[in-house]
Amino acid sequence: MNTVLYYYTGTGNSLWTARALAEKLGDTELVQMHRMTHGTHGSETHAIGLVFPVHIWGVPSLVRNFLQTMEKRPGAYYFAVAVNGGQVSRTLIQLQELMAEDNLTLSAGFDIAFPSNYIPWGGPGPVERQRKFFAEAAEKISSAAEYISSRKSGLIEKGPLWQRVLFTGFYKMSYNSVKTLDKNFHIDGTCSSCGICERVCPVKNITLEAGRPVWHGNCEQCLACIQWCPEQCIQYGKKTKGYERYHHPEVKVKDLFREPLL
Ligand SMILES: Cc1cc2nc3c(=O)[nH]c(=O)nc-3n(C[C@H](O)[C@H](O)[C@H](O)COP(=O)(O)O)c2cc1C
Ligand code: SF4
Ligand code: SF4
Repeated sequence: MNTVLYYYTGTGNSLWTARALAEKLGDTELVQMHRMTHGTHGSETHAIGLVFPVHIWGVPSLVRNFLQTMEKRPGAYYFAVAVNGGQVSRTLIQLQELMAEDNLTLSAGFDIAFPSNYIPWGGPGPVERQRKFFAEAAEKISSAAEYISSRKSGLIEKGPLWQRVLFTGFYKMSYNSVKTLDKNFHIDGTCSSCGICERVCPVKNITLEAGRPVWHGNCEQCLACIQWCPEQCIQYGKKTKGYERYHHPEVKVKDLFREPLL
């Protein structure tokens, strides 16, 4: 394949983006980042893309870990899409810096906004507003595909200065504590023991014990478990019981399963 697109997603926005971009680019392979332990691209791959959600105003640790294991090909054309809820902040600049440490050049970085999946702060908002996000995202994906196809370079999108100044500190402060934030998850409602939460977790942080999920302190905070639970019985902190769940309407839960369906 000419292009390989590595993606990471909690609620499908990044997967939908990766699919739409792959369709526009043509001859593109989609690979889930956490399925690759040692990312090697085919010898005919000339463009390598990363599509992932912004977490806490920066690059999620799963993506940073993936970068460490990914095969480095300094001559290739690298691009990225930071999928977010409206505040991309410094994420793509941070990614550019991380890649530069490995002598890789991030040629293009695109900021695409979607409904936010950060349920501790509330639901995804009215359906009409969500549709507007999807329509604008589709347009942005088309223009990004043109940019990538013509191998342009230099565009690294970023949020306003106040965002970059204020929130970069939050990212640094919280980065090391993300893993144990799963202590805030609990069951309040009827768990049907369906196992979906266990199967969607990208880092195997959940096991079912006596038919109920147990979190093991190695969380990425992708929020897939709480957002995809069909019984809506997983809660985070005290407020989420009253909040609407979200996933991209064109992505299905099985698209996120770590292991294929038997
Ligand atoms: C832990 C966490 C932190 C987040 N931090 C940000 C943020 O700093 N800025 C932002 O715009 N969106 C933030 N979001 C929202 C997601 O980036 C956004 O909803 C994205 O579209 C989710 O993509 P996905 O469906 O592929 O997981 C955050 C979401 C989570 C779960
Ligand atoms: S997804 Fe929800 S209902 Fe299914 S096992 Fe997990 S907590 Fe229980
Ligand atoms: S425990 Fe839940 S929030 Fe944490 S990484 Fe797994 S699915 Fe994502």
